[in-house]
Amino acid sequence: MASVGAGRVRPGWYEREMAKLKASRPRAIYRCQACGHMEPKWLGRCPACQEWSTLIEELASEEPPRPSARGVSDGGAPTPITEVGAAGAADRRATGIAELDRVLGGGLVAGCLALLGGDPGVGKSTLLIQALAGLARAGRGGACAVLYATGEESIGQTAMRARRVGAADPRLAVVAETSVEKILEHAAARRPDVLAIDSIQTMYTPQLDSIPGSLAQVRECASRLMQFAKTAGVPTIIVGHVTKDGGLAGPKTLEHLVDVVLQLEGDGGPYRILRAHKNRFGSTQEIGVFEMRGGGLAEVPNPSANLLAERPVGAPGSIVVASADGARPLLVEIQALVAPASAAMGRRTAAGVDGNRVSLLLAILAQRASCDVLDRDVFVNVAGGIRLGEPAIDLGVACAIASSARGHAVDAATVLFGEVGLAGEIRAVTLFEQRLAEAARLGFRRAIVPAQNRARLASRDDAHGLALVGVESLGAAIAKL
Ligand code: TYD
Ligand code: MG
Repeated sequence: MASVGAGRVRPGWYEREMAKLKASRPRAIYRCQACGHMEPKWLGRCPACQEWSTLIEELASEEPPRPSARGVSDGGAPTPITEVGAAGAADRRATGIAELDRVLGGGLVAGCLALLGGDPGVGKSTLLIQALAGLARAGRGGACAVLYATGEESIGQTAMRARRVGAADPRLAVVAETSVEKILEHAAARRPDVLAIDSIQTMYTPQLDSIPGSLAQVRECASRLMQFAKTAGVPTIIVGHVTKDGGLAGPKTLEHLVDVVLQLEGDGGPYRILRAHKNRFGSTQEIGVFEMRGGGLAEVPNPSANLLAERPVGAPGSIVVASADGARPLLVEIQALVAPASAAMGRRTAAGVDGNRVSLLLAILAQRASCDVLDRDVFVNVAGGIRLGEPAIDLGVACAIASSARGHAVDAATVLFGEVGLAGEIRAVTLFEQRLAEAARLGFRRAIVPAQNRARLASRDDAHGLALVGVESLGAAIAKL
């Protein structure tokens, strides 16, 4: 070694150069895309949120600007709460789409930031453009009542869709833009009544290095839009995609930031359910029901009637349950098919209801209600592509399976609901009377219900003319089918 470099390279040169290089090279950090946790080294699993493969390299040399301050501080003195006027309660803008306005609690409040989430392709952009057209028509009549910034589709595509769904209106201005700064410039110049962003995952601010859709960008862009909404008093709607596991892509954090979180859901069929997961200006109990048609999303004011229209009356395995989604009772048909096993083990397939819940009900049927179909194939489906998530449908699912297993059709004028416990007991449910009223309205004459609920009913009139059969166990319910 000494003979090669002797005389030409000063001792320690290599070490000094390497140290300089190290100091000048930007330091990389690894940030979790799910929760924002930072690590100096790459790890397969985030130690903070335990998600796998979410750590992405970012450059730490250029310290990202501090995210804009959030919150609504106005520098004022503390005021007795009784002397504070109801902020914007009177200043609601209705979209003219009754199913949407109900979920919003009457319309968009001035300065609110609303997030419209849902799976790709479920119809968020369609619902948005229809709502914006309604807002534009009800607006102050200027050239630009509503500003729609699209980062996903060209303005040509957006215009084509608007014409198709009858939402083309001169007061609705559209711009293809993904820079939040530019969008806010447009908004400042045009002063729209409503601003809409489709979608937040395509937006970016050049002040951050990370790519659009990353946690940092999504958070920062949403934060700027919130500042705009609050300071200009302009209701702002942002569209957000949902990841497979149900979170709004990247940030669950967005849900804390915004005032309203709406979620559009569909399970394959033509029907879509709009829910408010959070609403600072209204109830989260309301749902809106839509049907996707050739001309966009159509309101379904009487969903129970629609969902039951194609019911195969007199077929074993078909049962009508009175579900209550939020505060709105919904009559839905549940179908079950029990067939000889096609493989060594019985298969189960559930659409519209939780598969684990179906497995549990099969075990309860076998152990507590002498209806053992564990070695057979069982298919359960909720008609219309609706998803039901509440326990009151248990009794319906279990009875549909029992009905199919025995080849015994259930009386077409009977409706059922109740939660099934592990001992096979039937437990009381909420919104008892509302469920009965909806069933009576649709012409049902008999209801198999939890005995507890029936006992608590104050007077016979509250049964809405239905013959009530109170049951305490799953076995008793099956015997009454
Ligand atoms: P879209 O609103 O683009 O979904 P998202 O913005 O949530 O990704 O809706 C896309 C789907 O809706 C598409 O698969 C076609 C269907 N569709 C209709 O059936 N009818 C219509 O009038 C429109 C506009 C869309
Ligand atoms: Mg879209």
